[in-house]
Amino acid sequence: MGRAASRAHAFAARIGVTTSIWQAPMAGAQGAALAIAVARGGGLGALPSALFTVDALRAEVAAFRAATPAPLNMNFFCHAAPVVDDAREAAWRARLAPLYAELRVEAPTGAAPARAPFDGALCGVVEDVKPEVVSFHLGLPSEALLARVKATGAFVVSSATTVAEGKALAARGVDAIIAQGFEAGGHRGTFLDVTHAALAMQIGTFALVPQLVDAVDVPIIAAGGIGDGRGIAAALMLGASAVQLGTAYLACPEATVSDVHRRALDAARAQPASFETALTNVFTGRPARGIVNRAMRALGPLSTDAPAFPLAGGALTTLRARTEATGDFAPQWAGQAAPLSVAMPAEALTRMLAAAADEHLATA
Ligand SMILES: Cc1cc2nc3c(=O)[nH]c(=O)nc-3n(C[C@H](O)[C@H](O)[C@H](O)COP(=O)(O)O)c2cc1C
Repeated sequence: MGRAASRAHAFAARIGVTTSIWQAPMAGAQGAALAIAVARGGGLGALPSALFTVDALRAEVAAFRAATPAPLNMNFFCHAAPVVDDAREAAWRARLAPLYAELRVEAPTGAAPARAPFDGALCGVVEDVKPEVVSFHLGLPSEALLARVKATGAFVVSSATTVAEGKALAARGVDAIIAQGFEAGGHRGTFLDVTHAALAMQIGTFALVPQLVDAVDVPIIAAGGIGDGRGIAAALMLGASAVQLGTAYLACPEATVSDVHRRALDAARAQPASFETALTNVFTGRPARGIVNRAMRALGPLSTDAPAFPLAGGALTTLRARTEATGDFAPQWAGQAAPLSVAMPAEALTRMLAAAADEHLATA
């Protein structure tokens, strides 16, 4: 066995799984069904918490625990709870006014879908259910909360989108770091410099992974644009100890994406030449990669008017409801490798990807 394969096998054994594949936690796009299927295929299943209530999250964990003895990754966002800025909210609604008029909808009065930052209540869930892995996105929680998580014995990871972020995470004592390249679908895990100027300087998975491997002493999990066995093998060859795949799992029947999102992913596979994603903040206020649609074209894809995360989405709710059939104003998160995805059950997909990666590593 070569160096890359033996590093990956040793790391998988440490986590308690049989492949190098971590299923990315994907808030709004999956629950326990996807995590269970990936776990049965030998990968690390994940449950995102950002869009679940505490009770719903406990129910998802219970479903996972009832279905499989495999380890579980519970995932939490670590953003600061937003403060409403009336002037920005007014500017954002002024940008949207022509769209409200055109589509004959009211400006919404309700709030954006809640995305709970990690707090004492969620930490209580971790202490109760003791997931084997706890992953954070958008940085790390306070020292006190992090100490409580570590005291449960969980293997703690967080995402870095730059070398500086990787070093900052290592200094806080994480057990491993997810190297999230520019290609990745969903929200950027960026936490040190969230300006649009810094975003333009971010780097791709292929450049980020080896630099992080050199910069820190903890294992690196490569994420972003990895869509098949070739990509997994390449990431392991670059020094990663495992890979985290999100978009590759969106086409699985276990993913809970909308019909319109699923059709867009089908179209990506059928016509890769016309598939486009971009980083946008118009849906939540934080940059995230999604399939280009009308909202992104009309308002961004990056807008300095968008209110802070996750408030930006509040002003879009009536437009979203009116255009449900087309998905013109709903986020359809996906990474750049979506055309490589295969629509098949997640257990079989995990086995297929792992076998393909092994073959590439064996014959490289
Ligand atoms: C639909 C979707 C939702 C996501 N939600 C989360 C999330 O809740 N928490 C998180 O840490 N990462 C989230 N991500 C980012 C993934 O963890 C990961 O970085 C990304 O999927 C890797 O790139 P790929 O999509 O090209 O595989 C999401 C990604 C997608 C595609």
